[in-house]
Amino acid sequence: MDTSIFSDDLQAIGVPDHKKARGVARVLISESEIRDAIHTMARELDEEYADDVPLVICVLRGAIAFMSDLVKQMSVPLEMDFMAISSYGSSTRSSGVVRILKDLDEEVEGRRLLIVEDIVDSGLTLQYLLDYLERRNPRDVRVVALVKKDKPDAIPVQVDRVGFTVPDEFVVGYGLDYGGEYRNLPFIGVLDPSVYNGEGAQHPQLEDPSQT
Ligand code: IMP
Repeated sequence: MDTSIFSDDLQAIGVPDHKKARGVARVLISESEIRDAIHTMARELDEEYADDVPLVICVLRGAIAFMSDLVKQMSVPLEMDFMAISSYGSSTRSSGVVRILKDLDEEVEGRRLLIVEDIVDSGLTLQYLLDYLERRNPRDVRVVALVKKDKPDAIPVQVDRVGFTVPDEFVVGYGLDYGGEYRNLPFIGVLDPSVYNGEGAQHPQLEDPSQT
């Protein structure tokens, strides 16, 4: 399912006047839109895993909010595991060189895996993760991403379910960060470019290795 939300499709929603929302230019996906999309995804996943106990894999840290809400909406029995990875990027794009900071604790051979991702941008990080997990002989691997950027030059990576397709802008909230902040916003918003274009500001595409 892909609800293909673009900012222009949405009614203008004011950015709440919270300290934690400072620097957010506009709300792109509201809390209730996220809730509805997750509800729909959970119903579809319940059908898909009606006869299995999937191992649901949260890609730390960005997917933490999504994962938490998704599994609570799912009715099938499941197990959870966590991976932490870092992406090394140049100033303009992810290089796809990924380092595993925390590997899975569970054995995956013969199991059905569900990767829960926050955002697919260039697709390089996810492609790395898929290659890495496939080498361990799971029964199958599916991917659910809350957000996918509409990016013509992204690599064609496997994403089985997408909550929202968004324009190619830097977004924060609901797990997504800039410099470690904004993860606790209940909505997804577009970061004002002045936040990262200002003097001394980091470019949001990760100059340094950082956790996703
Ligand atoms: P990739 O380009 O698909 O490899 O994305 C790598 C990682 O960069 C994602 O998992 C996110 O953690 C991060 N990322 C990419 N775009 C954004 C964004 O717009 N906001 C916040 N994080 C992002």
